[in-house]
Amino acid sequence: MEKRRLGTSEIEVSVFGLGCWPLGGGPGWGDQDERESIATVHAALDYGINFFDTAEGYNNGRSEEVLGKALEDRRDKALIATKVSPTNTEPATLRAHCEASLRRLRTDYIDLYQVHWPIWPATNNSVEDAFATLLDLQQEGKIRAIGVSNHGVEQLRQVLATGVPIVSNQLCYNLLSRAIESEILPFCREHGLGVITYMGLMQGLLAGIYRSPDEVPPFRARTRHFSKDRPMARHGEPGAEAETFAALERIRQIADELGYPMAHVALAWVASKPGISCVLVGSRKRDQLARNIEAASLKLPPEVIAKLDEATEELRIKLGPNADYWQGQENSRIR
Ligand SMILES: NC(=O)c1ccc[n+]([C@@H]2O[C@H](COP(=O)([O-])OP(=O)(O)OC[C@H]3O[C@@H](n4cnc5c(N)ncnc54)[C@H](OP(=O)(O)O)[C@@H]3O)[C@@H](O)[C@H]2O)c1
Repeated sequence: MEKRRLGTSEIEVSVFGLGCWPLGGGPGWGDQDERESIATVHAALDYGINFFDTAEGYNNGRSEEVLGKALEDRRDKALIATKVSPTNTEPATLRAHCEASLRRLRTDYIDLYQVHWPIWPATNNSVEDAFATLLDLQQEGKIRAIGVSNHGVEQLRQVLATGVPIVSNQLCYNLLSRAIESEILPFCREHGLGVITYMGLMQGLLAGIYRSPDEVPPFRARTRHFSKDRPMARHGEPGAEAETFAALERIRQIADELGYPMAHVALAWVASKPGISCVLVGSRKRDQLARNIEAASLKLPPEVIAKLDEATEELRIKLGPNADYWQGQENSRIR
């Protein structure tokens, strides 16, 4: 598996990483068999994946626990990335939460410790104090590198102004969610920050598992692609259901012409974009992973990438530059 440098750090990540959110089951994911989760992590290592992404917030630490159990006797083969929630970034709390993640992960260091969402003013936590604490934790050897997640340009500038070196920004990016292309991705490239992408398959939509908007369950229809009238939506926007499914149809046609599954084409498209260090793939079972991993060897020619860009351009314009797909512009957490 191809490896890429994470930003300007010394860390070499596999181009596909395992997104471990579903491994602990929980809201939106339902029950998840722990043995299957562990077997999926081991299979990922066998395929050459070295990057595993989790968060303290994923099912209250359960995802971290399962990952820790899976990697306990193979720690040296894996890079563990986890995240602290922005509400837990007051210095003493942050330290305690880092220690708790280390315990759940059964390790004495975290390779990449990310601030899950920007520290918004309402938390009353100070960005300067939080990043100073992260630097202390790095100097103590508890974390190897510091990253952020879901940060926009204004928020990145604020973090960079602390002088604490960060190496990456984790963002939602897929053929149906291209907001980061307008400003955030160019800014990350310019400042040497590696971009780790999530939801490359748009939670299954880009694997073609839903034929119409009505088939998409509420937990996966919370984004701005779907109407504000969906039961779990909170963005208040009309959505872009017709454009989303028209784009999916065009992507399906391009994939058919190439003779590859749509999921492979979607993942290979993300990996082809300059500035992307690692594409997280959410695979909760071995057979899913086995199917998705094949995309790692698919290199799309420039004319196919251009066709895919064109196929999703109308949707890109309709959804605009707000990279928070769960909140409307006014309440966007990404600025
Ligand atoms: N930083 C953040 O704020 C943030 C936010 C979201 C996610 N993430 C990270 O990114 C990772 C990936 O995101 P994600 O899991 O939400 O999205 P994803 O990779 O777009 O989608 C994963 C889901 O798609 C379905 N799927 C996967 N492969 C498939 C295939 N070959 N055929 C059919 N269906 C397939 C599965 O659905 P079923 O479950 O129905 O089988 C799977 O759970 C997460 O695990 C997490 O680590 C980070």
